[in-house]
Amino acid sequence: MLRILLLSFFVSTAVAEIPGVITFGSCAKQTRKQPAWERMLKQKPDLFIFTGDCVYADTHDPKILRKAFGQLDAIAGFQKLRKQAPVLGTWDDHDYGLNDEGEENPAKKAAQGVFLDFLKVPAASPRRQREGIYHVETFTEGKRKLQVIVLDTRYFRSPLKSAGKKHRYQPDTDPNKTILGNAQWKWLEETLKKPADLRIITSSIQVIPEKHPFEKWGNLPLEKQRLFDLIKSTNANGVMFISGDRHMSEITLHQSAIGYPLIEVTSSGLTQAGGGNKEENPHRIGSIYRKRNYGVITIDWAAKDPLIGLGIRDAVNGEMMVEHSVKLSELK
Ligand SMILES: [Fe+2]
Repeated sequence: MLRILLLSFFVSTAVAEIPGVITFGSCAKQTRKQPAWERMLKQKPDLFIFTGDCVYADTHDPKILRKAFGQLDAIAGFQKLRKQAPVLGTWDDHDYGLNDEGEENPAKKAAQGVFLDFLKVPAASPRRQREGIYHVETFTEGKRKLQVIVLDTRYFRSPLKSAGKKHRYQPDTDPNKTILGNAQWKWLEETLKKPADLRIITSSIQVIPEKHPFEKWGNLPLEKQRLFDLIKSTNANGVMFISGDRHMSEITLHQSAIGYPLIEVTSSGLTQAGGGNKEENPHRIGSIYRKRNYGVITIDWAAKDPLIGLGIRDAVNGEMMVEHSVKLSELK
């Protein structure tokens, strides 16, 4: 009996086939052409992760939100991707509620139902019972383990302190304000304590960059520090971040945030991208990319010390625009 219980536990928590090619992206307006899907299919992804703003609905009406996801689901390229690879991910503001909205969204429970339907989360899943869409998917093959950790940076997020202009904010050190909320913080701690070789943490908003005035973890600096402290106190090896939201892409490498090099790959957006190249980020590797794009992570799991390839590819021609690689042994 115990063996059966253990076996069913293993089956329900560990998905077979560890992904060697992961693509990800954000900021996809459902009414626009989305050439990225056809391009990323050429990379033969084993997994796709949405890093937020999967659709632009900007609504508190679940019917309008559901219709927007229906439009995304009707795009031929996305349909092909869904046949090839599982889709995980998080939301950001435009597919959660209104622009820059947080915990105050009065329609967030209904929005959660629509989003979990889009992700095809079974009706009986415990994810339907709790508040927020945070989630971990663990992939196992042989001795190797990959955690894809999906954070919800919207459902519980306290109001931000305005910097005087629309969509611009200033750091707020109010200790009562939160990004993740108590339950999600507790869950994240338990998740980071579990063994894994690599942990891809998905945050819709940027984690490391802090020089720009838009939404970012740095707007609540105590929460950002809490995140770095938690990675250290749980001795979580193999952590890296992916993010979206910004309508631009960059790779950021912070050498001293957590005790080993902390990398963040921001890819935005699949349809929404633009602006200039002047934004300051002292931790950026290479340059900003501001045309439509998607992110790619490749992991050579069979190697003794797997090489993790990170890249931003142009959504139209698939060309690699920003690139970095790191050995798994460096992330501890
Ligand atoms: Fe956003």
